[in-house]
Amino acid sequence: MTPSEFSHKPVMFEEVMGVFAPLASGLIVDGTLGGGGHSEGLLAREPERIILGLDRDLSAISAARAHLATYSRRFMAIHQEFDQIDGALAAACETDSAFCKAPTGLLLDLGVSSPQLERAERGFSYRLEGPLDMRMDPSKGQSASEILDSISLDDLTRLLRENGESRFARRIAGAMLKGRPYQSTVQLADVIKSAIPAAARRTGGHPATRVFQALRLRVNNELEKLHVVLEKAFDLLAPGGRIAVLSYHSGEDSIVKSLFREQVTGGCICPTRYGCVCGAVAKARYVVRSKAPSKEEIEGNPRSRSARLRAVEMLSPNGPGA
Ligand SMILES: C[S@@+](CC[C@H](N)C(=O)[O-])C[C@H]1O[C@@H](n2cnc3c(N)ncnc32)[C@H](O)[C@@H]1O
Repeated sequence: MTPSEFSHKPVMFEEVMGVFAPLASGLIVDGTLGGGGHSEGLLAREPERIILGLDRDLSAISAARAHLATYSRRFMAIHQEFDQIDGALAAACETDSAFCKAPTGLLLDLGVSSPQLERAERGFSYRLEGPLDMRMDPSKGQSASEILDSISLDDLTRLLRENGESRFARRIAGAMLKGRPYQSTVQLADVIKSAIPAAARRTGGHPATRVFQALRLRVNNELEKLHVVLEKAFDLLAPGGRIAVLSYHSGEDSIVKSLFREQVTGGCICPTRYGCVCGAVAKARYVVRSKAPSKEEIEGNPRSRSARLRAVEMLSPNGPGA
């Protein structure tokens, strides 16, 4: 895919630039490179900055490499999943010694990019007729239709319930299993729609939206990988290093919120009115506790509407100023 075919508007662009603004030099890992929109801003704003971009989608890697070719001295893109951040850093260091340092930043802009969503053959969209695939890396793992071929009713009901479709989860899951096997996205969307009582169909958005999102999370193991990358980043980042995460789903956001809180409180469980008396030491501080896009941004880019930005800064293990 050429850069002009890969068009994705970076979400909360200025807010993300603001998080990393104090880190003028150093190495920032963009764990979800996509079209490289955020990375481009980070490179353009600071001439000393180095970016290692990761994406599990090879078409995003090729598009970002072409798009950011002018920064090739300070930019490297690797086709890798972000939970393998440690391995990717080692590989980057082996290729170019400029990348042999502890990262000072990590950016995660979760979910799918516009080109992934808009290309029917990727199977992410219930509106576009295509194979029911949904893999961000189509060379690995099982597609959505393969997962549906073997999933049990209980497992599918739980998946839908845990990821937002609570009202009719069992009913939809039953209908989905009856409708197997699936050749296409639209075939599944029709089955989901007809499983919902007529009165409920008239309210809210298309019932397939949340079901497709739940399936996508499972196909790509998204929540598990988010947990792993954040735990690794807390150890990998140098003191003063910053982590920013843009999430688009309550399941993602609650992982970010709870892991960040653990770092900021040092795991302290004392009631806040007493202060911490259990000796817990804060490992991070909030930079952005929680922020949504502005009304203007949502109007200009409706896909940003569910975004939530959170960011922390890692502290020195020996306390401030150590
Ligand atoms: C919302 S887009 C990022 C857009 C990017 N910030 C920009 O400005 O163009 C998310 C990207 O993250 C990638 N991605 C999602 N989960 C990933 C993971 N576990 N490891 C690596 N890349 C991932 C997707 O393939 C997609 O290209």
